[in-house]
Amino acid sequence: DWQYSLRPRHLREYIGQDKAKDNLDIFIKAALNRQEALDHVLLYGPPGLGKTTLAGIIANEMGVNFRITSGPAINHSGDLAALLTNLNERDVLFIDEIHRLSRNVEEVLYSAMEDFALDIVIGKGPSARSIRLDIAPFTLIGATTRAGALAAPLRDRFGVISRLEYYKPEDLVLIIKRAAEILDIGIEDKGALEIARRSRGTPRIANRLLKRVRDFAQVTGDGVITDQIADEALMRLEVDKMGLDHTDRRMLDSMIKKFGGGPVGIDTLAAAISEENDTIEDVYEPYLLQLGFINRTPRGRTVTRAGYEHMGIPYPEME
Ligand code: ADE
Repeated sequence: DWQYSLRPRHLREYIGQDKAKDNLDIFIKAALNRQEALDHVLLYGPPGLGKTTLAGIIANEMGVNFRITSGPAINHSGDLAALLTNLNERDVLFIDEIHRLSRNVEEVLYSAMEDFALDIVIGKGPSARSIRLDIAPFTLIGATTRAGALAAPLRDRFGVISRLEYYKPEDLVLIIKRAAEILDIGIEDKGALEIARRSRGTPRIANRLLKRVRDFAQVTGDGVITDQIADEALMRLEVDKMGLDHTDRRMLDSMIKKFGGGPVGIDTLAAAISEENDTIEDVYEPYLLQLGFINRTPRGRTVTRAGYEHMGIPYPEME
């Protein structure tokens, strides 16, 4: 459904991420000029920052097909071989959560990326042999939350490695106003800023909160989103002034009250708040780190003075 959503289709419509965008613009133009497939691209960064959107834009700007799959969806090397042999010249294959590919599948990808070839083993036992199958030169775009989670041989086969960052509030304001325009939602500048400030630097969250705040504006106001309506709605949605949600606060609260502010290990913390390790590491931790509310130490996570202050709990002073 990604075509029918709010996703921009062209690089010039894509707001923010200027570093990644400006470099990609050059690489796309150069590849088009040479009439070659774009080099393989690895996009990494926290969820919701527009990795899939950017991959779709790259395919669109290159004028090629966009095929989407994900690491967990490819169970057998044959599944990947089927995808790869169906690509046309210069097509984009997007693999989301590429760090979750199995080892066997990953190994098929190496020769595909490097030589545009598949090594297929036919037969079993002593009569088994390997045949090499050529595939069309294509562009692999991989997305991951953590580039460090990729095996080095895979990471090294990407010609372009691009890190997406949390968006600045002023970029989120533009994204929110663009979405409001498309969805025909009335919004004041200050209303957009209030939502932007509380969206954890993440367009996916900004767009979701925009829709929910609109519901409040329609039912409790005259349909136009003001800063006051945004504030009331976000309070009721348990999104606080810094954009922390119920789970963020539960995590800080648990670290402070159950573990004396830390250090606490990831497994212990995950068990204490009944969340997956990966969800904590990929979703919750990065933003709390960015805000300076927690620290990572070799012995585990700790809550900082700013974290205590945000939770309204006095920081334990050393005697
Ligand atoms: N919608 C979500 N992310 C966006 C972005 N970076 N630019 C424009 N619209 C978006």
